[in-house]
Amino acid sequence: MAKLFIPAKNETVTDFKTIQSTLKSHGIMIDKWEANTKLADDADQVTILKAYEHELKPFMTKYGFETADVINVTPKTENLKAIREKFMKEHRHSDDEIRFFVDGEGIFWFHLDNDEVLAVTCQAGDFMSVPRNFRHWFDLHPNYFVKAIRIFSNIEGWVPHYTDSGVDQKYNP
Ligand SMILES: [Fe+2]
Repeated sequence: MAKLFIPAKNETVTDFKTIQSTLKSHGIMIDKWEANTKLADDADQVTILKAYEHELKPFMTKYGFETADVINVTPKTENLKAIREKFMKEHRHSDDEIRFFVDGEGIFWFHLDNDEVLAVTCQAGDFMSVPRNFRHWFDLHPNYFVKAIRIFSNIEGWVPHYTDSGVDQKYNP
């Protein structure tokens, strides 16, 4: 279940509707998806995509996305430290960054236009779309485990353009 942390108020919000409306006011989409079957921990990509096809297909058709795949990061992933360091630096992308969390968790940090920062912890069942050009970073701390569906048309759109604002360093553990 998603959690929203507002550092400026030292406040944590767990009510999903409140999280959804707060994020919506900044142009960020969060939603919940449900699998149509129970997935085993070692379910392969095809099985995972099939379990969410009833959610994926209408979304991809509506917004014109062509591809979905599954990424799996665990504490055993090679180069985990380097991967995490890249995620944790504030950046933007030229396309939306869309993730559905099948298992594990991750935190999206958003640097808002008014320079405030919001952190959204996404867990199993959470669907998140980071709008193109939105300043953000991502962390895997503290469990370093995330299994997520990525939805995209063109991997070029994911190239991170680092902002070097230094804002991330004020918040990263
Ligand atoms: Fe990103």
